[in-house]
Amino acid sequence: MALHEKNKVRADILDDVYASSDLSVVMPKYKMPKKEQNPRHAYQVVHDELMLDGNARQNLATFCQTWVDPEIHRLMDECIDKNMIDKDEYPQSAEIENRCVHMLADLWNSPDAANTLGCSTTGSSEAAMLGGMALKWRWREKMKAAGTPMDKPNMVCGPVQVCWHKFARYWDVELREIPMEGDRLIMTPEEAVKRCDENTICVVPTLGVTFTCQYEPVKAVSDALDQFQNDTGLDIPIHVDGASGGFLAPFVDPDLEWDFRLPRVKSINASGHKYGLAPLGVGWIIWRDKEDLPEDLIFRVNYLGGNMPTFALNFSRPGGQIVAQYYNFLRLGREGYRKIQQSSYDTARYLSGEIDKLGLFKIIYNGRGGIPAMSWSLKEDVDPGFNLFDLSDRIRSRGWQIAAYSMPPNRQDLVIMRILVRHGVSRDLVDLLIEDLKRCITYFEKNPVTHKGNEEESGSFNHT
Ligand SMILES: Cc1ncc(COP(=O)(O)O)c(C=O)c1O
Repeated sequence: MALHEKNKVRADILDDVYASSDLSVVMPKYKMPKKEQNPRHAYQVVHDELMLDGNARQNLATFCQTWVDPEIHRLMDECIDKNMIDKDEYPQSAEIENRCVHMLADLWNSPDAANTLGCSTTGSSEAAMLGGMALKWRWREKMKAAGTPMDKPNMVCGPVQVCWHKFARYWDVELREIPMEGDRLIMTPEEAVKRCDENTICVVPTLGVTFTCQYEPVKAVSDALDQFQNDTGLDIPIHVDGASGGFLAPFVDPDLEWDFRLPRVKSINASGHKYGLAPLGVGWIIWRDKEDLPEDLIFRVNYLGGNMPTFALNFSRPGGQIVAQYYNFLRLGREGYRKIQQSSYDTARYLSGEIDKLGLFKIIYNGRGGIPAMSWSLKEDVDPGFNLFDLSDRIRSRGWQIAAYSMPPNRQDLVIMRILVRHGVSRDLVDLLIEDLKRCITYFEKNPVTHKGNEEESGSFNHT
């Protein structure tokens, strides 16, 4: 080997990563580089760029998991090569998904938990699409049998997450969303029933409304629909969006009737990656009974000589999240979930009390009657030298990401800040946050912000 080549090899091995020739230039951003790079160097570049993302543990705007057991990291690594769709090749992962379905059906009080159907999804959004689609199919079959027109399906809901707007648009269903009025920020039975007719494919109450975190009254809505059926003969099913509440109420509020104990509830979705405590990328949809999932939506694949029903939008999908969900079920059981969720509620309520003490804010939600979270608006009679968008911006200088946003119709005038308390948001962390909030308030006392009349302001937070 020529001497200059030896020197190059030596340099490649010994050079500090930042003194390497690879890193002596700016990386291409929008065109693929022509040549290869040393993996150590490429890794460092990508790793360093990710530093500019927010710190997920301080993201108090998200409902999703940002802390998991070290064992979950290991299982995720072990499953990196497993595709959920390859049920023949990875029969045990398929079996684990199946067990999760039946455990959830049992947790949500399905009358036939051992035999009902359900599946994992990438999150609640896909699960909502599947639940809504099954209900549209059922309604269409009913209308066809009766010889009535099938071209104007609608669904009734309170203020829903954007996934239901997507469902309605993609599947051509009219969305009859009950607007907020005054202090009523969620669905009531009266408002829901008022919007129902022969074309209503379902009513969708949310257990943990995205904007306010409150539970919508599923049982009262179900009772009102019973009465509606007595009066009109129309039998309208319920799908519960339990994105967050589906993994909270069974543990912390077991007597709350919101699930398959109510015969009218035909399907439920929940996000495994929210209060299900699994890493990002898993949701669930479960049907009350196997009859509630129309047969012609099910595709059958041969698996271990048997017949495996599948029903999902995606084909290839990672298996790790589902395996991690199962690990959580085994590791925690009902007792472990209850302890974790209860401590999140306790912390949310503590935080609510502390923020109330600051004197400037009206508590909108104090962690009772919904999910472990809290929210506040500015008191109307105070002029603290900032609005909530300013506060959201300022607190970010310490890494905290707290959503500030205006409510949907008809309460766009109401601007709130909302904090989701979840696994890993400890009492101690919350105490540090309160100190930072106090520092922000003092800062604005000295440096008040003046707002021109019609400034455009809106929260930049996704409601995930
Ligand atoms: C009530 C509700 N439904 C559905 C979703 C969408 O869930 P995912 O992010 O799991 O798709 C969310 C997300 O925050 C939600 O709060």
